[in-house]
Amino acid sequence: MAPSFLIFFFLSVSSFLLLSAPPALSQAPSPSSGGPLNLTAILVKGGQYSTFVRLLQQTRIDVQLNSQLNNSYSGITVFAPTDNAFAGLGTINNLSEQELIETVLYHVLPRYYSFATFQSASNPLPTQASDRTGVFTLNVTTAAVNAHQANISTGVVNTTFSNVLYADFPLAVYSVDKVLLPYAIFGPKPPASAPAPSTNSNRTTTPSSSDAGIAPPPASKSSNNDAGGGSSSSRRASEVGYWSLLAGVGFLGIAAGNML
Ligand SMILES: *[C@@H]1O[C@H](CO)[C@@H](O)[C@H](O)[C@H]1NC(C)=O
Ligand SMILES: *[C@@H]1O[C@H](CO)[C@@H](O)[C@H](O)[C@H]1NC(C)=O
Ligand SMILES: *[C@@H]1O[C@H](CO)[C@@H](O)[C@H](O)[C@H]1NC(C)=O
Ligand SMILES: *[C@@H]1O[C@H](CO)[C@@H](O)[C@H](O)[C@H]1NC(C)=O
Ligand SMILES: *[C@@H]1O[C@H](CO)[C@@H](O)[C@H](O)[C@H]1NC(C)=O
Ligand SMILES: *[C@@H]1O[C@H](CO)[C@@H](O)[C@H](O)[C@H]1NC(C)=O
Ligand SMILES: *[C@@H]1O[C@H](CO)[C@@H](O)[C@H](O)[C@H]1NC(C)=O
Repeated sequence: MAPSFLIFFFLSVSSFLLLSAPPALSQAPSPSSGGPLNLTAILVKGGQYSTFVRLLQQTRIDVQLNSQLNNSYSGITVFAPTDNAFAGLGTINNLSEQELIETVLYHVLPRYYSFATFQSASNPLPTQASDRTGVFTLNVTTAAVNAHQANISTGVVNTTFSNVLYADFPLAVYSVDKVLLPYAIFGPKPPASAPAPSTNSNRTTTPSSSDAGIAPPPASKSSNNDAGGGSSSSRRASEVGYWSLLAGVGFLGIAAGNML
């Protein structure tokens, strides 16, 4: 009787110690879990995303995204190109400031996607650079329900990704081996093809001379149709949406500055 009681007592005490010990230990070395999500810190820890981090900081999109993460119902998904992906991609340096912002925002989806939710998403997916006209979308395709890799197509670039840097709602970060070049900027004509300015004027489907005598067409298309800038008018149709986006970035920057 006495030995069995002692054994029971011993087991009870040791199981109590086993149960109580882990929480005491795990609470000590996790000081960062309570703080806000910091995309930059996740990328810095990844060790091979310094160019993307620099672009995020240069455009202040890092501030926008961190604040979005702190107050988001749908979360965000980020495709982080490695430093190798940027190597030899000199065209990035030739982008205008707004094109650069669009290209960086193109790497962000305004929703949290795991591999499983990519499976049920319907292409094309809007990105953070998209506006209501539907440009700046990309396609993600997964092969199977339990796939741990997926393909992206921008219309200019195809790549496969499988490396998950972070995946816990509201933030998913996937490593990509190529910079996702948006079709809206890099698609129609490569920036290197300089000596072909006159043929581009034929791309505009609405010449301004045809609607001279008749009632004006509905102004649903681009409102700034100057005759000289025909080559880029199709892309500029999205500028209104873009500027509101840029205003949002600027506002967030100001708001962040005021908080400090
Ligand atoms: C996020 O992390 C980066 C890199 O560790 C750091 O420089 C930055 O101050 C952090 N931002 C916030 C808001 O904590
Ligand atoms: C996160 O949002 C809460 C309220 O939604 C706010 O009080 C807090 O200051 C925000 N933190 C950061 C780091 O933006
Ligand atoms: C960038 O622009 C410069 C000047 O217009 C040009 O010489 C150079 O070839 C361009 N680089 C790339 C990669 O397009
Ligand atoms: C992804 O791309 C690879 C290479 O192009 C191809 O073999 C594979 O079938 C693609 N998978 C899906 C799900 O599209
Ligand atoms: C994206 O998917 C849509 C719908 O399947 C398709 O119409 C479109 O051509 C695709 N675009 C690219 C760039 O793969
Ligand atoms: C991307 O993949 C699609 C379908 O697999 C193919 O039709 C297209 O040519 C590829 N584009 C590039 C730029 O490789
Ligand atoms: C312009 O487009 C029309 C019809 O699309 C075509 O007949 C004509 O040859 C084109 N002109 C040039 C200079 O490409």
